[in-house]
Amino acid sequence: MKTIIEPFRIRSVEPLRHTTPAQREQFLQTAGYNLFELRASDILIDLLTDSGTSAMSTYQWSAMMRGDESYAGSESFFRLKKVVDELTGFGHMIPTHQGRAAERILFTLMCRPGHIVPNNTHFDTTRANIEFSGARAVDLPLPEAADTQARLPFKGNMDVAALEKLIETEGADKIPLIMLTVTNNSGGGQPVSMANIRAVHTVARRHKIPFYLDACRFAENAWFIQQEEPGFERLTPKQIAQAMFSHADGCTFSAKKDAFANIGGMLGTNDDEVAQKQRDLLILTEGFPTYGGLAGRDLEAIAVGLEEVLDHDYLEYRIASTRYLGRNIADHGVPIVEPPGGHAIYIDAGRMLPHIPKHEFPGQSLAVELYRHAGVRSVEIGSVMFGEHARHELLRLAIPRRVYTQSHIDYLVEAILEVNARKESLRGLRITYEPPHLRHFTAKFEPL
Ligand code: F0G
Repeated sequence: MKTIIEPFRIRSVEPLRHTTPAQREQFLQTAGYNLFELRASDILIDLLTDSGTSAMSTYQWSAMMRGDESYAGSESFFRLKKVVDELTGFGHMIPTHQGRAAERILFTLMCRPGHIVPNNTHFDTTRANIEFSGARAVDLPLPEAADTQARLPFKGNMDVAALEKLIETEGADKIPLIMLTVTNNSGGGQPVSMANIRAVHTVARRHKIPFYLDACRFAENAWFIQQEEPGFERLTPKQIAQAMFSHADGCTFSAKKDAFANIGGMLGTNDDEVAQKQRDLLILTEGFPTYGGLAGRDLEAIAVGLEEVLDHDYLEYRIASTRYLGRNIADHGVPIVEPPGGHAIYIDAGRMLPHIPKHEFPGQSLAVELYRHAGVRSVEIGSVMFGEHARHELLRLAIPRRVYTQSHIDYLVEAILEVNARKESLRGLRITYEPPHLRHFTAKFEPL
């Protein structure tokens, strides 16, 4: 059979509420044309993020019922530790309430003012936590990745030559760790090849610099390696994920992505001394090291999710579904970041709406129109979010895991193509209020 189906059936449903165009216009006005300010119940299809929005399985829900809520030494912690040890091989697993808590602990311990942390592309919380420690976050994407239209198989890779140059010019003692984000979220959800992971590992080893993975979407990355990197076609996604982790000295992880959990994260490391310090810091703000700010039931959901996410049928469906959305809009004239990534499709709004200049926010204009037209929420990743540092004007359509069906995706394709057919009528926006930091969350706009 060539049809790839959702490898699950639906046991429990959450009704979606249709709204009228007139209602949506009203909601937009009240929200100041900022989709973060909408009420979730006024949204039909929510593609704001794939983080914490997964549907859990019956196995996860039943595992939650046996959550051990002991303050110390919880059985749930040991069940999770067993799964993580087998997957990552790291000697230490430290649970945290989400990914950024793991980042804060890691960078607080390793970074000082004057330090530099290279990454293929830092996610915004990663960058913010590094900068909060006084260090500098440097992105080293492939030069080819600057062209959204280039179709390269592993466009999320790090530019290893640029990494070597950075170490040579700045000195290895200024670089407390090297990170690699798999998949490369801010770079378009593009995967990183095993060859690139190995190459970064080799450089890190040579200079005795610790190498950490930001492993939020490790399973989606493993799938791309199996499908597209020669030599890996016979390995299972789990074996590939194990090989990915085997090259790193540690990782940060948000269980809100590839663990199908609604909350949670963790920190992994091979270094006994670092792990001890991480635990000391953890107790200060997150909690005792066998729960790290999570309920025992959350640890159970993560343990089961980490095994389910590596299922062949799930990953095949997941990546096919994202690709289907990407190809069906891109092949009908909507420019996207090529090729389609794992968890999201990024529309190149700057290219789609050349009549709207950067300072009138083409990505935000498209986000607003897609909601107005079809009740779909997406997120601008461009000048609203990054100001003058924005490299592209993108609109991210992030797909929650196991949540939407094929007909929802068909509805999205139709909605996007209808907006594209009258794209010349879209107008830009003007900011009427902005806070001092992270303005995209609370800024208010006015249509021009
Ligand atoms: N690293 C990456 C690559 C991420 O995508 C995220 C979160 C984090 C770290 C932080 O994890 O949210 O658990 O604290 N990304 C979400 C997104 C928010 O929408 O892309 P967290």
